[in-house]
Amino acid sequence: MSKLLIKNAEIVTVNPKNEIVYGDLLIENDQIAKIDSHIDDVDIDKVIDARYRTVVPGFIHTHIHLCQTLFRGQGDDLELLDWLQKRIWPLEASHDEESSYYSAMLGIGELFQSGTTTVVDMETVHHSDSAFQAIAESGMRALSGKVMMDYGDEVPLLLQEETETSIQESVDLLEKWHNHDNGRIQYAFSPRFVVSCSEDLLTQVRDLSSNYDVRVHSHAAENRGEIEIVEQKTGMRNVVYLDHIGLANERLILAHCVWLDNEEKSIIKNRGVKVSHCPGSNLKLASGVAEVPDMLDKDLLVSLGADGAPCNNNLDMFNEIRLAATIQKPIHGPTAMDAQRVLRMATIEGAKAVGLENEIGSLEVGKKADLSILNLNDFHVYPSFGVDPVSRIVYSATRGDVETTIINGRPVMEDRVMKTIDKDIIL
Ligand code: GUN
Ligand code: FE
Repeated sequence: MSKLLIKNAEIVTVNPKNEIVYGDLLIENDQIAKIDSHIDDVDIDKVIDARYRTVVPGFIHTHIHLCQTLFRGQGDDLELLDWLQKRIWPLEASHDEESSYYSAMLGIGELFQSGTTTVVDMETVHHSDSAFQAIAESGMRALSGKVMMDYGDEVPLLLQEETETSIQESVDLLEKWHNHDNGRIQYAFSPRFVVSCSEDLLTQVRDLSSNYDVRVHSHAAENRGEIEIVEQKTGMRNVVYLDHIGLANERLILAHCVWLDNEEKSIIKNRGVKVSHCPGSNLKLASGVAEVPDMLDKDLLVSLGADGAPCNNNLDMFNEIRLAATIQKPIHGPTAMDAQRVLRMATIEGAKAVGLENEIGSLEVGKKADLSILNLNDFHVYPSFGVDPVSRIVYSATRGDVETTIINGRPVMEDRVMKTIDKDIIL
């Protein structure tokens, strides 16, 4: 058994009582074995002295496109449909196996640097196998899937697939990668959005996700132009249509949900659909400000994502948590989204979204050791250790503060060096 002991830390547990523990955290193999004010360091393989450091659960990004990491800066100052048609879809169509691999690997390096340990990733139509390869080699915990697009005048021919090919390739990838490395990697069917998917495809995805018991990951109600197209195509509001198909259920993760009406919110609540809020992307693509305080008041499950790199030019979860809190304040007042609430969205609520709330999302004995160690003392005005760490994480931390990221008890990033299974990469 391997034992790793993190000593003298400020441990932000995000447990049900939101406790902060000052002391030590013991990892045995891939699990948290003990959290206490003092743990003896006998028979320990590795000790990390975390004096004046803060330990947090790894962030869980519930919406990202690793295939878009290489496109940063190439689609700025556009709104969603122009951005997809003029920039993102032609760029996705130009991927080959190698570029798809490196796009994923570079994105993962950036995510480790900013304390993310789990992603829900949507790949492109082709070459998703190499993205899975990068995920497998990197140690990232992930749900991922090839994007599905078999419909619509809006979609370029280079990316448009036959329905059966889209289904078959998805099932082939699922059979190859689902539950890889003891469940660290899972498959998620990824119909891109209603605009690009036929009813036949969505219906088949509904049945397959139920038969295999895997998540479905899609976009909805992001942008007003997108909603208009959905209404023209189906005669229904976006989420009402998904419910009509039978896709609105507890396995569905829906990115954005900026423009929901009350009927859609109650479908999401009653069916147990998971919302992934992506504030940076919603601002940069001029999509709007999602009504997250209202969703939380109505008891919807909301977690956080960065979306792809060209949506917000930053995969850093610190950026998203800060925006999630601050964009609501001018509209709903200073306490509408407090720091503790958004930290929970970035961790334990994300774990619930992916169905892993018993394994990840907080620092508790018996859970997987997915965490990061932060140095939040880079303030020149006062010694900040011990002063409300949750506020410091939400309102002032940046990825430069992350010293170590650990997944399944294994450091995957230490001092800016990413440790993949067969080579180290300097970030
Ligand atoms: N809607 C459909 N595809 C995409 C995408 O790649 N990014 C975003 N933000 N929205 C989408
Ligand atoms: Fe997206």
